[in-house]
Amino acid sequence: MRIVVLESSPHKQGSSNTLARQFIQGAREVGHTVEEMDVARMDIHPCLGCERCGMDGPCAQKDDVQKIRDALLSADMAVFVTPVYYFGMSAQLKMVIDRFYSYTMKLSARHLKTALIAAAWDTDSDVMPYLSSHYQKLCRYMHFQDCGMVLGTGCGTPGQTKNSPHMREAYQLGRNL
Ligand SMILES: Cc1cc2nc3c(=O)[nH]c(=O)nc-3n(C[C@H](O)[C@H](O)[C@H](O)COP(=O)(O)O)c2cc1C
Repeated sequence: MRIVVLESSPHKQGSSNTLARQFIQGAREVGHTVEEMDVARMDIHPCLGCERCGMDGPCAQKDDVQKIRDALLSADMAVFVTPVYYFGMSAQLKMVIDRFYSYTMKLSARHLKTALIAAAWDTDSDVMPYLSSHYQKLCRYMHFQDCGMVLGTGCGTPGQTKNSPHMREAYQLGRNL
């Protein structure tokens, strides 16, 4: 499979990207092709809601979303990687998702496989449900096929993350696709 991994943390070597690297290692070991896109470092702007695209046309804004669009429309799988910010995804990732708007029809027609990898500081059970249910609703709406979620609680720093069971979980998710 051709897999696009969308990383969205301001910390290049941070917790969520540490988990993503485990996933990527597992996926590459079994022969998948992985393209990493560090969307936190790309030129991406929020959706203007101008409706010029009609959900199926060129976007009025010319920025790096074009590169993400091209990658996703030729991929078999997308992986959403994010730190947990106030119980949701990072703004960097949310911008990418909002900008699906101009190619919603084309993207949903692809029935992409997807996964979610998230890192949060807290360990309690009330940290992840909001992000995971948002992701699951997005999957239903966009006709994505969810392949799994790595919900990294207790992953507040790269050090904590490396000592957590979520490292193996992320690796296994990549290997077992
Ligand atoms: C703006 C902001 C909001 C955060 N909100 C939460 C939160 O709601 N719950 C939580 O457990 N951790 C929260 N954190 C902590 C991060 O999720 C955590 O440190 C994570 O490891 C960061 O991942 P990264 O290194 O990939 O950026 C927040 C951190 C920041 C900077």
